[in-house]
Amino acid sequence: MTTASRRLAQRVQLKDKHIITRMMEIASELDDVIKLGRGDPDLDTPAHIIRAGQEALGAGATHYTNPMGMPELRQAIADDIARYGGAQYAPEDIVVTPGGQQAMFIIALGLLDPGDELLIPCPGYNPYLQAAELTQAKLVEIRTSMETNFTLTADMVREHVTPRSKVLILINPGNPTGTVIPPDEVERICEVAREHDLIVVSDEIYARITFNGHRAQPVAALPGMRERTITLSGVSKAYAMTGWRVGYFAGPSDLMPALAEIHHAFAISTSAVGQHAALAALTGPQDCVEEIRQTFDERRKVLCAGLDELGIPYAEPEGAFYVYARVAETGVGATEFCERLLAEGRVMIFPGKIYGDYTDDFARMSLTQPVPRIEEALGRMAGVVESIRAERAGA
Ligand SMILES: Cc1ncc(COP(=O)(O)O)c(C=O)c1O
Repeated sequence: MTTASRRLAQRVQLKDKHIITRMMEIASELDDVIKLGRGDPDLDTPAHIIRAGQEALGAGATHYTNPMGMPELRQAIADDIARYGGAQYAPEDIVVTPGGQQAMFIIALGLLDPGDELLIPCPGYNPYLQAAELTQAKLVEIRTSMETNFTLTADMVREHVTPRSKVLILINPGNPTGTVIPPDEVERICEVAREHDLIVVSDEIYARITFNGHRAQPVAALPGMRERTITLSGVSKAYAMTGWRVGYFAGPSDLMPALAEIHHAFAISTSAVGQHAALAALTGPQDCVEEIRQTFDERRKVLCAGLDELGIPYAEPEGAFYVYARVAETGVGATEFCERLLAEGRVMIFPGKIYGDYTDDFARMSLTQPVPRIEEALGRMAGVVESIRAERAGA
């Protein structure tokens, strides 16, 4: 037993969390790495939003705000949710957090006792797994597969429900897969949630970024769901505002006061300047969202066409800004592929294992660089794939 493992609480001795750290270390030694790893768009926050942040600072937005978030921002969030076909929320039912990321941990701490079961479709966004592990809840992975484009179905949920099941996570559109669950399937999944008294955490952070007419159904708007759904979202993705750190969650009135207290204890409040910028994002012109969506759509087409040429299969990205590709098709596992692609090709992508142990055939590629850089990344990838295939042929 090492000193650290004696000192760290057992719940934080997480398995295999070092792949990204290792890749960051390799990348820091290299020049000109094309980063298709993190979900952080290269795009600038639209100018009118930046201006609103600057003006707010000039006007003294340098203090804590109302712990739950500025009332006018919570009203704007309620209006935004409703504008896109979501449920009706009062500002009191919304808490603004430093990114949707923190909301995941507040929700997990607020809802899960040790041994409670949290159902999560896998591959799925890994912080949810970490949040559940910290609460010592039991993680129940619902494994989706590429044969069905990683779509979750109501039958799959039903097969995994037990009397200890408490929370179901839905990430729609999905990260890392880009899958959009068809709206009628979302309805069927909600039927299961109602039958088994599950709370649904509906992560809709990518809902404004969908392709080819796909649409992510807001869960809380469905019959009987508002009282058992926590909607989680934020401005990071749709407005290219990752660094401002503003997200939120909205939920039923009986749960929100206790969850708001946890947020208060964690953060006191979300940064005032970020909240002013988010207010400008949600209440200002919305054409920037469509421009951002189109940018990702164009990049998606380029990356997918390049992967087709390389003979690397992938899940059809229907939303979000990722391509989840079966890179093991090249002849090596995804973790090795990602490490080689970084070391030999100076392209950073993330191994699928991060998003669920069983998907080490896959890697996630983010559409977070402009088209010419994606083309350059594909060229570099082709070189690495060629040497892997040549080695395999010679072996
Ligand atoms: C599915 C999903 N939810 C939530 C988040 C959190 O984003 P933020 O904390 O920037 O709001 C992310 C970030 O990548 C994400 O992919």
